[in-house]
Amino acid sequence: MKLFSSVNDVTDLDALVAQALQLKADPFAHQYLGKNKTLALVFMNPSLRTRMSTQKAARNLGMDVMVLNVDKEGWALELRDNVIMNGTTVEHIREAAGVMGEYADIIGLRAFPGLKDRDEDYTEMIFNKFVQFCGKPVVSLESATRHPLQSLADLVTITELKIRSRPKVVLTWAPHVKPLPQAVPNSFAEWMCKADVDFVIAQPKGYELSTKFTQGATITYNQQEALADADFIYVKNWSAYEPYGKMPEVTEDWLLKNDSLKITNNAKVMHCLPVRRNLELSDEILDGPHSVVVHEAGNRVWAAQAVLKQMLENL
Ligand code: CP
Repeated sequence: MKLFSSVNDVTDLDALVAQALQLKADPFAHQYLGKNKTLALVFMNPSLRTRMSTQKAARNLGMDVMVLNVDKEGWALELRDNVIMNGTTVEHIREAAGVMGEYADIIGLRAFPGLKDRDEDYTEMIFNKFVQFCGKPVVSLESATRHPLQSLADLVTITELKIRSRPKVVLTWAPHVKPLPQAVPNSFAEWMCKADVDFVIAQPKGYELSTKFTQGATITYNQQEALADADFIYVKNWSAYEPYGKMPEVTEDWLLKNDSLKITNNAKVMHCLPVRRNLELSDEILDGPHSVVVHEAGNRVWAAQAVLKQMLENL
């Protein structure tokens, strides 16, 4: 594997999940693989889980790790071509990515969308430029439209905790105070549509995701209808795809509470985190027996380690 940017970069999904679970059982079995190899983690946006879990995963494989918060600690990057750089940007992504490629064997990049120009975000302008100019294998740490390490950890969690062979998995929209990217729900949908699950998306009118990511999913505007007999409920806010990055008004109550779970198959509740309590998800669920959000975050290590292992094996 030279690029991990979506589920389409995975040749055998079941094998990758099985590998992550093997690494969870025996984290230090492949420490020789990363000896004298360096991972650079480049963040254009904040992170807790992705940063710490990927560092831990790399160290479990014997790698050295460098982290650069380029938004706070690096030079202001110019992303456009053919511009006179007489404004606030100091270094072009062409040189910056190329230089990082000189220092690292594998690079991870986080680059969120601007949520203003849909074409720019959905062509993954920043992520793809970085891949082009760094010349090294790249792992997405969340791009404008996808968060594949999160989705792999989510599938690992579902595989581990399911109590029937083909579980019902519901992705439900949740409220928020500001427009959030579609990367997590896009990615989760894309992975679930390839996994052996019965997958349903529930969202208010106006919050339909791009159909590019939802082929094979059942889509409804009725949350309660979606939750019936659910084994897993994945809670997430996202802004509209059309009109892009906006927050169409929602009049119904989409905040999940314990009462909402009565019609489920004793569902486990997932969220990628960070979560705003009592806005996106209620205290009673987060603090109760249904929540698996911390367990899910723990699995970020094994997802990252499985991907890095495949990349190291192909260097
Ligand atoms: N879920 C997730 O990616 O968390 P961070 O933004 O903290 O990395």
